[in-house]
Amino acid sequence: MIELDNITYKYKEDGAVVLDHISMAIEQGEWLSIIGHNGSGKSTLVKIIMGIISDYSGIIKVNGIELNSSNSYDIRKKFSIVFQNPDNQFVGATVEDDVVFGLENHGVPRQEMIERTEAALKAVNMIDYRTHAPARLSGGQKQRVAIAGALVMNPDVLILDEATSMLDPEGRAEVLEILREIHKTGRTTIIYITHDLTEIEDSDRAAILKDGKVISSGTIEDIYSDTKALTGSNLVLPFQMEISDSLLGGTYVTYDELVERL
Ligand SMILES: Nc1ncnc2c1ncn2[C@@H]1O[C@H](COP(=O)(O)OP(=O)(O)OP(=O)(O)O)[C@@H](O)[C@H]1O
Ligand SMILES: [Mg+2]
Repeated sequence: MIELDNITYKYKEDGAVVLDHISMAIEQGEWLSIIGHNGSGKSTLVKIIMGIISDYSGIIKVNGIELNSSNSYDIRKKFSIVFQNPDNQFVGATVEDDVVFGLENHGVPRQEMIERTEAALKAVNMIDYRTHAPARLSGGQKQRVAIAGALVMNPDVLILDEATSMLDPEGRAEVLEILREIHKTGRTTIIYITHDLTEIEDSDRAAILKDGKVISSGTIEDIYSDTKALTGSNLVLPFQMEISDSLLGGTYVTYDELVERL
């Protein structure tokens, strides 16, 4: 669905290369995670995919069509994004006002707005909070409302740029659970940005970015067994990997396998 071909980017002509010949492809309905340490280029890549940055070199195709300055706005209308800070993405006084906001700008008929808002709030399990003030929700609830605001637009692509990094473990688990549900429908392509290796377990494929380069990519098993890339990427290894790495010699095992082998 989305193909990136040799994307290279510098913020300043004489500055450092922030993205260095990035090529990757994302299938329709796939959940792709992009992992990398601070400054590895994840948000820059997101800005390029979203069209916020356009002076990159390389080619982006969406459904086989190469993006250019005249078609890129229309093609990207079906891309929605959720950012890191749950407090920076609310515009409405209540949860439902907030979710409906994007639809109001698109001239959607009133009855349809009501139905889509309800469906989006149900999808993230927040329908009971429809009249609550967003400011009074927990971090995980806020991010679920932000996801509802993205889903209400029926996006083809949902991008989350470290959407769980400011949440506690419970809030993270809530957001990941919602993403699993969205993924099951097969309708929405998910691009999930994180620096936390434990959060990629549910995705179909992942890529590790380091200093603007893809240093490893493949299925989650491929990534978890690429010890060289993992240890060289400045990422914190999940607990079971640390243990298996030091006691069992670097093979990734699940918790159950780890208990068994120990
Ligand atoms: N507006 C900007 N102008 C100049 N340099 C920038 C700008 N934004 C980011 N950079 C630089 O580009 C590099 C990649 O930054 P980016 O924000 O894409 O990384 P990231 O992987 O998202 O990091 P984080 O995990 O901290 O969010 C960094 O070296 C950063 O300092
Ligand atoms: Mg970032």
